Amino acid sequence: MRMAFRFILPLLLVLGGIAWAAAPLVGTLIERWFRADVEMRSQLVFHSIEDTVTSLVMAQTDRKAGRRVDELFKRIAQDERLLALGLCTPDNRLNNRSAAWPKDLGCPMAPVSGTAFLVERLAEGAVLAASFALSVDGVNLGRLVILHDLSFIERRSSSAEYYLAGFLALLGLAAATVTAIVARLTLRSWLRAARKGLSAQGGGEGEDSGMAIEVAPLVREMRKMLRDLDVPRALTEAIRVDWGPESLRNLLRNELPDAEVLVVSNREPYIHNLEDGQVALQRPASGLVTALEPIMRACGGTWIAHGSGSADRMTVDGDDRLAVPPEAPAYTLRRLWLSDEEQEGYYYGLANEGLWPLCHIAFVRPTFRASDWEQYVAVNQKFANALVAEARTRNPVVLVQDYHFALLPRMVREKLPEATIITFWHIPWPNAEVFSICPWKEEILSGLLGSSILGFHTQFHCLNFLETVDRFLECQIDREHSTVRAGDNTTLVRPYPISIEWPPAALAAQAPVDECRKSVRLKYGLAADALLAVGVERFDYTKGIADRFRAVESLLEVHPECIGRLTMLQVAAPTRSQLAVYRDTQTEAEAVAEAVNARFGTDDWAPIILVPKHHEPEAVFTLFRAADLCLVSSLHDGMNLVAKEFVAARDDEDGVLVLSTFAGASRELLEALIVNPYDIRAMGDAIHAGLSMPLDQRRERMRLMREMVGENNIYFWAGRMLLDAARMRKRQHIERQIAVVSGKSATSIGAKRHG
Ligand code: F6P
Repeated sequence: MRMAFRFILPLLLVLGGIAWAAAPLVGTLIERWFRADVEMRSQLVFHSIEDTVTSLVMAQTDRKAGRRVDELFKRIAQDERLLALGLCTPDNRLNNRSAAWPKDLGCPMAPVSGTAFLVERLAEGAVLAASFALSVDGVNLGRLVILHDLSFIERRSSSAEYYLAGFLALLGLAAATVTAIVARLTLRSWLRAARKGLSAQGGGEGEDSGMAIEVAPLVREMRKMLRDLDVPRALTEAIRVDWGPESLRNLLRNELPDAEVLVVSNREPYIHNLEDGQVALQRPASGLVTALEPIMRACGGTWIAHGSGSADRMTVDGDDRLAVPPEAPAYTLRRLWLSDEEQEGYYYGLANEGLWPLCHIAFVRPTFRASDWEQYVAVNQKFANALVAEARTRNPVVLVQDYHFALLPRMVREKLPEATIITFWHIPWPNAEVFSICPWKEEILSGLLGSSILGFHTQFHCLNFLETVDRFLECQIDREHSTVRAGDNTTLVRPYPISIEWPPAALAAQAPVDECRKSVRLKYGLAADALLAVGVERFDYTKGIADRFRAVESLLEVHPECIGRLTMLQVAAPTRSQLAVYRDTQTEAEAVAEAVNARFGTDDWAPIILVPKHHEPEAVFTLFRAADLCLVSSLHDGMNLVAKEFVAARDDEDGVLVLSTFAGASRELLEALIVNPYDIRAMGDAIHAGLSMPLDQRRERMRLMREMVGENNIYFWAGRMLLDAARMRKRQHIERQIAVVSGKSATSIGAKRHG
C-alpha cells in the first residue's frame, strides 16, 4: 500500500499538472482549427451564391427578387454551422437577412473591404461575421455578410480539454500501477537473492543456498567486516567523551582481542642508578616515557629498552626482565644491554649527531659517519631480534618508538609478517631537500615503511615524509588515504599529536596552589609576592634555553619596573653530555644567565635561577603550580609535552603559557601566547604581557587549554592508533580470506586495494 502511494501519487500529481497546464493550450488550438474551417466554409458559400446574389441585387426593384434572396438565405442558413446571412446596401443598411440574424446586430463593418473577416461578440455568444463585397463593373452593390455561430467551437474545445485531462489521468494511473507492480516484483526478487546469499553460511554451509561455494566465505567475511567496522565508528563517536585507562583497556579487549602489546624504545621508563652505594630509582626526563608509560600501565605487555642505569643489571631477573611500576607492577620491562661501542655509534653517533640535528631546524650541522651507521644497523637488528624473541604470538601489536629505530620495523616485519607494527616518530620530519643530506636515506625510509602505521605529531610532518618518500624511493603513494606501498607492505602515514595522561599521576599528591607558591618561593629565596616564570627542559640546543634568558634580559630593559620583582626559574636536566654540542648548550645557557644576573641582579635578587639538575615529575608539577608563567621557547620541537604538563598542573585554572610557534604543541594550545623564539624582543614583550594579563583572561585561556589536553590526552592518542591498527588487522584478515578463495596472494589483493 505504502509502495502504491509512493509511486502512484507522485505520478498522478505530475500528470495532473501536465494536463492542467496543457488544457488551455489544447483549447486554443482546437478553436483555431474550427475557426479556420468556418472561414473556409464562408468563402465556399460566398463563391457558390455570389453570382445569384449579385444578379438579384441588381434586380432589387423587383419585389420577387427580394423574396428570392430571402429564400436563398433561408435555404443556405440551414447548415448547422451557419447562423445567418444578410445583405447590406452600399450605405450599410441591412436589406435582407435570414431568420436567425441577431436582433441587435446591424450591418457589421468589415475592417478591410473585400473578403476580410470580422468577429463580433454578442450577448448570445461568439459570432463570426464574414463580409464579402458585391460589385459589377466597379459599381458597389453592397456586401454579403455570412454569420457563423462560434459557440459550438467553445463548447467543443472545452469538452476536448475535459477529455484530454481524463485521458492523461487514466494514462498516469495505468503507468503508475504498472511501475509499482514491476518495482515490487523486482525488489522482491532482489531481497530474495540477497537473503539467500547472506544466509548461505549463517544457517548451514552448503545447504541449498543456491550460491557458488567459492563465493560463500567472502559473503561471510563481508558480513563480519560490516559488523566489525561499525564498532570502531561507535567508539570514535565516544572519543570526545572520556578517554582513560579503562577505555583503552576496553578497546584492546574488544578490538584487538588477545593482542600481545610490545613496546620498543631506546629510553627505558624506569632507570636504576647507584647513588652513594644505594640503588635509586629514576624516572627519566623524556616525553616519550611520559607518554608511553601510562599506556603500558593500562594495557600491560612488554617494554623492551636499553638498560642504561648503573644499577639496572642488579635489578633484573635472569632473563633481564623486571615487573614495573615498582609500586604496582602492571607490565614487564625487558632490558637490553649495549656495549660502549654500540652506544657510541648508534645512540650518540647516528641517532643524536646525525638524525637529531637533521630533523630539527636548529642550525646544528648533522654529522654522518659510516662507523656510526654500522652500529645503528647492528643495534636495530639486536633490538629486533630481542623483540621477536619476546613475542609469544605471530601477530603482536608492536609499538616502535622514535628515530633510534628507523630500521627496526622492516627487520621485525621480515620475521613476523603478520605483526601490526605502529611506529611513532617523536621528532619533526624535515622536508625532502634537508633529508637528502642523509647518506642512508633510502635504507631509513625503507626501514620505516616496514611499519603498518607510521605516526607523526603533525600533518605537516606527514606531508614532509610523503614528499621525501616520493623523491627517494620506488613506491606507490596513495595521497587520498595517506598510504605508501613499498614492496609487499602498505604503511598508513598519519598525524597523531602525542599528549600526557589525564589527570596526571604527578598531580595526585600536590599541595594546593597557594602552598606550592609559598614553598617554591621560600625554597629559592624569593619574596612572597615575587613574579615567577618557570622553564623545565632537558639541556638540549633545540629548546632555546639561552634565548629565553635573553628574552628576560630584554624584558628587564624595556620594563625596568620588573627589576627586583620577576625571576625566571629554569630547571634543566643534563642530557647527552658526551656530545660537545650539548655541553656547549649548557655552557652557553649558564653564561647568558650569569651575564643577565650580573647586569640586573642585586644582592638579594637574581633575575635568572638556573638549576642544571634532573627533577622527578612531582617536583616539576610543584614548580608549575607555583609559577605565574611557563616559558617554552623551543627552536624546533616535535610536540613538547612540558607545555601540556604545565596546563595539566594548573587545576586552579590560572597561569600563563608562553609557547614557541615552532613546537608542535602550538598547533593545539591556541590560547597560549605564541612567540617566535628567534625574536628576543617580542618574546620579552610576550612574557611581560603574560605577567600583566588580567585574571579573567588568564582563566579563560587556561580553561580552554585544559579542556583540549583533557580530551586529547595520551589515551586518546594511543586509542586512535590502536583503532587504526584494529581496522587494518581486520582488512588484512579479509584480504587473506579473499586470497584463499580466489587463489591469489593476499599481498596482490592488498596492492590493488591500496594502489
Ligand atoms: O623528543 C624525542 C625524544 O625521544 C623524546 O621523546 C624524549 O623526550 C627525548 O627525546 C629523550 O631523549 P633521550 O632519551 O636521548 O634522553
